[in-house]
Amino acid sequence: MQASGCCLVFFLLFSSSLVSFSFALSGVEVSNIARRQLLTFRDRDGNLPDYYEYTVYVPFTFPNSRLRKAYISLQALKNSIFSDPFNTTGNWVGENVCAYTGVFCAPALDDESLNVVAGLDINHADIAGHLPAELGLLGDLALFHINSNRFCGIIPKSFSKLRLLYELDVSNNRFVGPFPDVVLDIPELTYLDLRYNDFEGSLPPALFNKKLDALFLNDNRFTGTIPENLGIRPRSLITFANNKFSGCIPSSIGKMTDLNEIIFLNNAFSGCLPPEIGLLKNVTVLDLGSNSMTGILPNSLLSLTTVV
Ligand SMILES: *[C@@H]1O[C@H](CO)[C@@H](O)[C@H](O)[C@H]1NC(C)=O
Ligand SMILES: *[C@@H]1O[C@H](CO)[C@@H](O)[C@H](O)[C@H]1NC(C)=O
Repeated sequence: MQASGCCLVFFLLFSSSLVSFSFALSGVEVSNIARRQLLTFRDRDGNLPDYYEYTVYVPFTFPNSRLRKAYISLQALKNSIFSDPFNTTGNWVGENVCAYTGVFCAPALDDESLNVVAGLDINHADIAGHLPAELGLLGDLALFHINSNRFCGIIPKSFSKLRLLYELDVSNNRFVGPFPDVVLDIPELTYLDLRYNDFEGSLPPALFNKKLDALFLNDNRFTGTIPENLGIRPRSLITFANNKFSGCIPSSIGKMTDLNEIIFLNNAFSGCLPPEIGLLKNVTVLDLGSNSMTGILPNSLLSLTTVV
């Protein structure tokens, strides 16, 4: 908290000096400074102050203020990239953000007269970089897909500003650290894919209170037990495979009667298999392989199950 406070003071000093000197500078110089400012705004947890957009000079005009924010956000992302082998962001230049590769615009949900950035999809671009806090300015974003890239670091706290986001796919990247709690604050999230990263530590029980329909956690370094409220809400798919989870499978699993697929493969589960697992009437994949669980599986599930 203290560290981010210092950061903010420094940032305010920097931006006020930018305002007082800008009159003596040419447009090119100002845009260079703005660019440098985008590059230097960093908060360790990726918080973004609410007024941030007003402190950035942008040398273009836009059809609406949300596209201006999107421009600031996407340029910050571009400036956070160290390698872009397929030149995916090569055309991320100028004010027409809707023409950028991977950026999708649509009428705003709350005002059809405004065209806004509703999706970002740069799957399989093999980009190396990190996610800047400025992504929190994409307030109309519904889909954020960056699977199969080389993004590292953390999911910035500013993602909690993405009030419409319902699909977040950061799978197959190099994200690290504890479970990214910021996703708990994204209200509309229904599809969360964290597969194939290096997240570690235990899962927050609050994760299972969210109305997520699909939850992919496999191939990370998660540890600890599965929270008791696992089955508190209906879901279609959950995968815990290839982590280091241990203990029992919570009996609340039996409440997810709509569940299609649940995968526990290759963890360190050692406790019992709850009889409530027999209540999963609609499950088509139940994989318990490479663990050391004890218990009896109901005949109804035997045909579609791998058990060790
Ligand atoms: C990347 O794409 C931009 C815009 O399409 C183009 O101008 C540039 O020459 C490309 N760079 C490389 C290295 O291909
Ligand atoms: C189970 O699946 C069947 C057929 O796919 C479907 O009609 C039914 O509504 C499902 N039941 C539940 C509880 O999801």
